[in-house]
Amino acid sequence: RAVPVVAIDGPSASGKGTVAARVAEALGWHCLDSGSLYRLVALAAMRAGIALDDEAGVAAIAADLPARFENGLILLAGEDVSDAIRSETCSVGASKVAVLGQVREALLDRQRDYRIGPGLVAEGRDIGSVVFPDAGVKVFLTASAESRAERRYKQLMEKGMPANIQSLLKDLQERDARDAARPVAPLVKLPDAVLLDTTERSVDEAVAFVLDLVRAGG
Ligand code: C5P
Repeated sequence: RAVPVVAIDGPSASGKGTVAARVAEALGWHCLDSGSLYRLVALAAMRAGIALDDEAGVAAIAADLPARFENGLILLAGEDVSDAIRSETCSVGASKVAVLGQVREALLDRQRDYRIGPGLVAEGRDIGSVVFPDAGVKVFLTASAESRAERRYKQLMEKGMPANIQSLLKDLQERDARDAARPVAPLVKLPDAVLLDTTERSVDEAVAFVLDLVRAGG
């Protein structure tokens, strides 16, 4: 029997990361934040002076990404970039490199390697459609653009990173549009995914909702 997977896809700042981490913890399963891989590729490419629309150049970076996840830290060539990859520059950069088919291809096996027993909770945009189409539970996690911008704003303020809510909202809407409109692996709500709108729901409620789906034998 294949190792079970819970796929959580949805737009930027919908709370996927928090919900996926909490569900994984409750189940004692592994967790994959696939967006961080795209963020790392964007950061590594920018640092190497490679244009974010140079498909072959960025794909070469993705294929050979010296990244590690260790003790809750995200390391790029040994350097802690956990905060750096959350900057708006990396958010926008990630959604630009994510339109490149060769880059997505280069990251596929790396993501699939996370499927280790007893199970995996993976979150992103194309987890249920491309990376793990056979996932037993698929959730489309979303919230209104305004409440997502507000959450991202609070997160950045807590980290002491400067932010402007209007420009966050604008960036978010542009990224949503880019993620949904791209020809390769666009963000879609699959027919077999369960819709979870967290505009009016707390994180606790969202976590309980997903755990119920898993326990119902997804
Ligand atoms: O989820 P997060 O906001 O960290 O993802 C950053 C960007 O990476 C997204 O805007 C999206 O363009 C891209 N991404 C993707 N496929 C995934 C995860 C993230 O295209 N599975």
